[in-house]
Amino acid sequence: MPHRHPIIGGNWKMNTTRASAAALAAAVADGVRTAAAAPEVVVFPPFPYLLEVGAVLTQHGGRVALGAQDVYHAPGSGAFTGEVSTDMLRDCGVTHVLAGHSERRHILGESDELVGKKARAILAAGLACVLCVGETLEQRKAGQTDAVNERQLRAGLDGVPAADLARVVIAYEPVWAIGTGLTPTVADVAEMHGFIRQSLVDRFGAAGRAMRLLYGGSVKPGNARELLGVAEVDGALVGGASLVAEDFLAIARSYIE
Ligand code: PGA
Repeated sequence: MPHRHPIIGGNWKMNTTRASAAALAAAVADGVRTAAAAPEVVVFPPFPYLLEVGAVLTQHGGRVALGAQDVYHAPGSGAFTGEVSTDMLRDCGVTHVLAGHSERRHILGESDELVGKKARAILAAGLACVLCVGETLEQRKAGQTDAVNERQLRAGLDGVPAADLARVVIAYEPVWAIGTGLTPTVADVAEMHGFIRQSLVDRFGAAGRAMRLLYGGSVKPGNARELLGVAEVDGALVGGASLVAEDFLAIARSYIE
C-alpha cells in the first residue's frame, strides 16, 4: 500500500472575526510547530482573513497550510461580481481549495458540473483540490448512497489531467453528519471509503490508490481516533471542532504518535 501522508483540514466556514481568526491561526500553528511527525494541517478561513491568517501561520512556524473554502472557475480576471479567482488565491498564499462542499451544493445550489469546473480550475492553477462528496439522509434512506457518491466523484474529476491527480484529495462527508453531532458507524465509514477507493483505483489506477481520502462530518476529539483509524481514511475535514484550537489540535494529534 502506498504511504499516504495524512491531512487534517479545518474548515472555518462563515465563522470568526478578524481578531479571532488570527488568534486561532496562531494557536493552531503553535500547536504543531514542534511536532516531530505531523500530518499535513490546513486551515480554511473566510476570504477576508486569508492574508492575515497566512501571515500569522508563517510567523508561527510555517507548518500549517492556508486553504480557501471556494473559488470561481473562470481563468484570469473578469466581470464576475463577488467572485474570487485562483490567481487571487495564489497571490494570497493559498495552497489548498475546497470544491463541492455540501453547503455549497445544497445551500448555494452548486451543480456537479460546476463543482467539476472548479476542481479543474483549482488543479490547473497548481493548487491542491479537496473535492467533497457525500449523500443526504434522504438519498441514504433511498439506497442511493453509492450512486450519489460515484456521480459526484465522476463529475468532480471529469477531465482532470493525469498529471494533476496527485494534487486531488477526496473528502467523504455524509451530509447528515455535518454539523449535527451524528456520525456514521465505523463499519459505514469503512464501507464507504472502501467503495470510494475502489472507484478511484478502477478509474485512475495507481494514482487513485495514492489519493488521500478524508472523512468529514462531526469529527471531534472524542471520536477522531476511532474514525481516523478506519482503513482507507487518510485524515479528516473538520468543521465545528476546528474553531477551538485545542479540539482541532487534539484531532490532529491522533496522527502525532
Ligand atoms: P462539522 O463540519 O465537523 O462541523 O460536522 C464538517 C465539514 O463541513 O467539513
